[in-house]
Amino acid sequence: MSALLSGNAWLNPFLGALQAAQVELGSVAHALGIAGDSHGQPAWPWPKRLAVEVLLIDAGVARQLALALAATGGALLLAVAGLVWRGRRIALFAAAALAAWFAPWPDTSLWLTDAVPTSFQTTPFSVETIALGAAHYARECAACHGDTGRGDGPRAGTLVHWPPTVVGPLLGHRLDGELFWRVLHGMHARDGAQTMPGFEGRLSDAQTWAILDYLKVLAAGGGAQDGEGWPVPVALPALDVRCGDAPAVPLASWRAGQRVRAVAVDGRAPPLEDPRWQTLLLFRDGALPAPSEAARWAANGDASCVAVSPGAWTAFAGIAGVNAQAFAGSQLIADRDGWLRAEAKPGDPAWANAALLCTAADAGGERGGRGGRVSRGRSDPLTSLLLRIDAEPVRYVKGGYVH
Ligand code: HEC
Repeated sequence: MSALLSGNAWLNPFLGALQAAQVELGSVAHALGIAGDSHGQPAWPWPKRLAVEVLLIDAGVARQLALALAATGGALLLAVAGLVWRGRRIALFAAAALAAWFAPWPDTSLWLTDAVPTSFQTTPFSVETIALGAAHYARECAACHGDTGRGDGPRAGTLVHWPPTVVGPLLGHRLDGELFWRVLHGMHARDGAQTMPGFEGRLSDAQTWAILDYLKVLAAGGGAQDGEGWPVPVALPALDVRCGDAPAVPLASWRAGQRVRAVAVDGRAPPLEDPRWQTLLLFRDGALPAPSEAARWAANGDASCVAVSPGAWTAFAGIAGVNAQAFAGSQLIADRDGWLRAEAKPGDPAWANAALLCTAADAGGERGGRGGRVSRGRSDPLTSLLLRIDAEPVRYVKGGYVH
């Protein structure tokens, strides 16, 4: 058994299964009426949850937990066999008792952690919420956390605790639903003293979720500016897209498994459409092409799908870590699972010097996110970039999925 569990290839599927089982348990509890609602979504009814984000880092504990689960499962099977097979009942029961007794459960403090009712809640990340979150962040949070989220706001120096930077691994180590809870209820030091005020009553649930979406943009943009890559994986934000003169539809309705290339259109001429991806054209607010113009592009074989949600340009510029004024000509690629992965700067239409901003970690689940120049192989740079992105999918983000 332990030979099977050496190496880390098993870790991601194991943690994925644990996480899925935990979320499933939550929905069963809700369906049975054991758990009520909290902030408009099903509540997690227990004070503890599996610390999947810790297990991800400590493979030793994860391995021990897997063995303990296997031994306990084996004990249950032996006990059931004992019930069925009368002749061998005593031997089977004894074996079951032994297996249960020797199940090597690690100390619970190593694999359980405090939960809150909103632990497993999330909301969709969208262009609209990013814009809303930016406005509320500026008003409520920037004084302490700083305009760029690095914890250097004007009030930071006056606080007992320095606010942490979000431009780093922090958000990747936390469940969204727990950040939500902390923002609403505040944070406290061990001695009970408040370190961060709570915003319940001041911010609505929707506003709080929106600010958390904006924090992801600050994290991504800051990491890109530092040349470190995105410290957390960033999904393609939800938005409405209009292709040619067809009615606008949600981006999510595009065939799943499709790569998306977002292009901040410089001037009026869109690039050619390319079968390797679906192109999403970004225009500044107020500068959207008329549907008839986009229909002409489509007829020429040019890209003709335009992001029509207000704020799309600003949201993508923020994620790329580029000033919105200087964003024209930039491109971003999202992989087949909808994670944004790479960026090409203006003046690099062929992706010759593109940066992979979200790199996958090895199966051990170490946090990736270091930016990397894409090596120039024999094939063209864009093809090697796409191959690398496909070969290294984003896995496991915060007890949901970390890359
Ligand atoms: C009065 C200053 C202040 C304001 C205003 C403030 N924070 Fe904080 N924030 C802090 C401090 C200090 C900490 C660190 C607290 C600690 O570790 O105990 C913190 C921690 C955090 C964390 C990290 C939580 C974690 O799990 O480690 C997040 C996220 C956060 N704040 C978000 C926000 C958001 C969003 C707002 C605005 C709605 C906000 N903060 C407003 C001071 C502030």
